[in-house]
Formats: sequence, structure tokens, C-alpha cells
Amino acid sequence: MIDLKTSKKDFPKDFYWGVATSSYQVEGADLEDGKGPSIWTTFVKRNGTIEDGTDGMIACDHYHRWQEDIELLADLGVNAYRFSISWPRVFPKGTDEKNQKGIDFYNKLIDKLLKKGITPFVTMYHYELPQILQDKYNGWESRDIIQIFGDYAEQLFNEFGDRVKHWITLNQPLRISHRSYIDNNAAPGTKKSVQLSFQVAHHLLLAHAEAVKRIKKLDAEAKIGISNSTIFVEPVNEDPKNIAAARMMDQFYNEWFYKPLATGEYPEELHHFLQERNWAPVILPGDMQKILCGHDFWGVNYYSRSLAVFDTTKPFMFSEAEPVLECTPQKMEIYPEGLVRSLKKIHENYGMKDIYITENGSDDFDILNNGEVKDDVRAGYIARHIEGCLKALQEGVNLKGYFVWSLMDNFEWVKGYTIRYGLVYIDRNNNLKRIPKKSFYDYQRFLNS
Ligand code: BGC
Repeated sequence: MIDLKTSKKDFPKDFYWGVATSSYQVEGADLEDGKGPSIWTTFVKRNGTIEDGTDGMIACDHYHRWQEDIELLADLGVNAYRFSISWPRVFPKGTDEKNQKGIDFYNKLIDKLLKKGITPFVTMYHYELPQILQDKYNGWESRDIIQIFGDYAEQLFNEFGDRVKHWITLNQPLRISHRSYIDNNAAPGTKKSVQLSFQVAHHLLLAHAEAVKRIKKLDAEAKIGISNSTIFVEPVNEDPKNIAAARMMDQFYNEWFYKPLATGEYPEELHHFLQERNWAPVILPGDMQKILCGHDFWGVNYYSRSLAVFDTTKPFMFSEAEPVLECTPQKMEIYPEGLVRSLKKIHENYGMKDIYITENGSDDFDILNNGEVKDDVRAGYIARHIEGCLKALQEGVNLKGYFVWSLMDNFEWVKGYTIRYGLVYIDRNNNLKRIPKKSFYDYQRFLNS
């Protein structure tokens, strides 16, 4: 058993303890019961996009096994669950024409969660854009999507807002833009352009702000935020060039998506760098004031630290050095201090808002042996990051909750099913049987402490 140096009693009574998932990664039943195709339905079909050639057609079959999965949550002892709504499942055509079967699915899920005393934290967008919006408008490349996303947010609120009081507009705008338009490593993934990527990022921030405005108008009490990729960046050594590279990396990964929402300004140095190369997004008058939207909380998705090295062969003059600390199999450094320092930085620089860690977890290959999975690395990773949460609280951060990524092994985007993140093992050779791992039992023990 992992030696946790803290117990649940050390945390505030109203702290949210949860786990997180996302629709395409767990639901399966893609195209079933009136669900329309999303950009991921299309992307996975292109040759060579997914490492093991798989897709999310079945995933964890959560769409059919949601009751069993809620029992797992209850058994684990969490008081919160973060999941996302699949846009094309509820509005297959964008915003008009709702798909009642899709709405019913989420109604049942939300009702059952509440019955079990588990608070739903709902992500409106975890990468599943209806394909029809991609075809019609080029998706996030177009400003049209800003109002459409606002309409969608409002519709979600009208359907579920009587029971859902915590909303997350977007999951990781960094990944939605740059992973697709710079790396071609995520849907839609058909165009490569740095300028377009930053344009998409600009539209994402505006869409977030539009959703915040709409929801706040409907219910001033509802809490709404955004989940940002949060990477703790340090220079590989004290060489001034590497220090400059780290500054650039930090602006690229983190500040570009935090700062404008808190101050109405993009990070100056990176913005200037983009302008010099004609890569800067087109910003219309009034955009930056809109982006400064006054949302309620930051969702922090934290996994690891990155070490920056000056590198003139790269478009942004930085690359990532080899990790030096103990790592997960995906070469993610296990560095809870990076979480603490990231939280403090966000707290101090970006408006002292409430903060939820909306994702934190560890990849592993995980071997099923005699019906058991001994995922010691993951269990230790979670324990050390929970200790980090306590440290951040003691240092004054308004931390309100912690969500492990993920409840169960799921479709890991371009990695397919080659790596696992779950507290619960999904046995893909045995009818997707759910098998709680050691990390599940350790987290359960902590939650009961
Ligand atoms: C994403 C998840 C993903 C996880 C692990 C997060 O950044 O939100 O969808 O599964 O990383 O890669």
C-alpha cells in the first residue's frame, strides 16, 4: 500500500474528490441512436492516424454500461464526476434539431449521479465537433463557430442546467488548435499552418467567453470555467539561451491560454514573435475585451514537467530535453512539485480564482495477472500529487477539487488502446470487463480515510 502522508481529513470538508472521462474516449455507440458523426469519427478512419488502427466505435461501451460505471464511482467513494457531453450525440446537426435519445442518455446519467450523491462537472466540448460543422464552416477555423458554440452552451444549459451547476466550456484549447493544425495529430488534422492554429486558438477563447456570457445570463449562480493544459516548464540548465527557450515554451503551452482570459492580453513576447512571422491571429476590435469574460474557475489539467532547450531548428526556437526524473512509460516526469508551483503561479498571476485540478494521472501499460493489476507507479503518482494539493492549499491556493484522469482505461486518441490511464482496467479480451486496479483501491482507501 502506498504510504500517503495525508488523509482526507486534512482537506476542507467541501473539497470535491473525483475522477474524469470524456465522451468519445469511453462511450462507444458512435453513430448509434441518432448520434451524428464527429470530426473524430472521420479522423480515425484515415489510414495511419491511430497507432493501433483502432477507433472509439465501442470504446468502453459506457453508453450501454453507464449504470455499472456509476456503481464503480459510488464504490470508489468520489463525491464528483467530470464527464463530457458529446455534441453530435445531443445535436447531430450543430445546434438545431436535438436528438432526444442523446439528451435522455445524459439525463439518466445526471439523475443517477445526483441520487448517489455525486456532483456532475460537465465539459461541453472534449474534442467532439459535429462533422457537419467542419464541412459547413471549416469548424474552429471560422468565426461563425463562436456564436454556434454559444447557442450550443445555451441549449445544454436549458436541458441540464436545473441539475448541473459546474460547467467546463472547453477541454484544452492548446490541444484543439496546435495538435491538429501544427502537429496534424488530432482531428480534423488535414491542414498544417501555424497562423491557422493561432487563429483557431483565438476563436476557441472567444467561444469560451461567449458560452460564459450566455450561461451567466441564464443562471448567475452556476459556476463555469475552462480546463487548460498546464505543463510546468523549466530550462534544462541556467544557460541564458535555455532560459529564453523556457520562457517561450511557457508562453506557448500555458500563458497563451491563461493570460488573455485573466488580463485581456496575449503574452507579449510570443505575440510579437508571431507578428514578425505573419503567424499572429487576426484580432478584431473588441475581441480581447470579450475574451476577458470573468469566468468562475480554472480547470487545471496537470501531468508533468517539460525541460526546455534552445533549438534553432524548431519554429518556436525551443525543443524538449530528455526527462531527468523518474518517468511514466510515456516519458512523463513524475513531478508533483511542478503541480504545486503551477497552481501557485496561476493563483498569483491570473486573478485568484477558484481552481480545480480537472485532470491528473499516469499512463502505464498495466498487466492483468491472476485477475489483478498492480499499478504501483500510478498509485504512487496519485498519492504524491494529492500531497501536492495539500501543500498548495497550505500555501494559499484556492484549490477546490481534484479529479484523477481517468476512471477507466479508454481510447487514448492517436495512441488508440496502446496505453492505459484508468483506475479501472478494461479487459478488451474479455467483453470489456471492468477490473479495479490497485490505484483504485488506494484512492478508495484515501477517500474513506
Ligand atoms: C486529455 C485526455 C487524455 C489525457 C491523457 C488529457 O490532456 O484531456 O483526453 O486522455 O490527456 O493523454
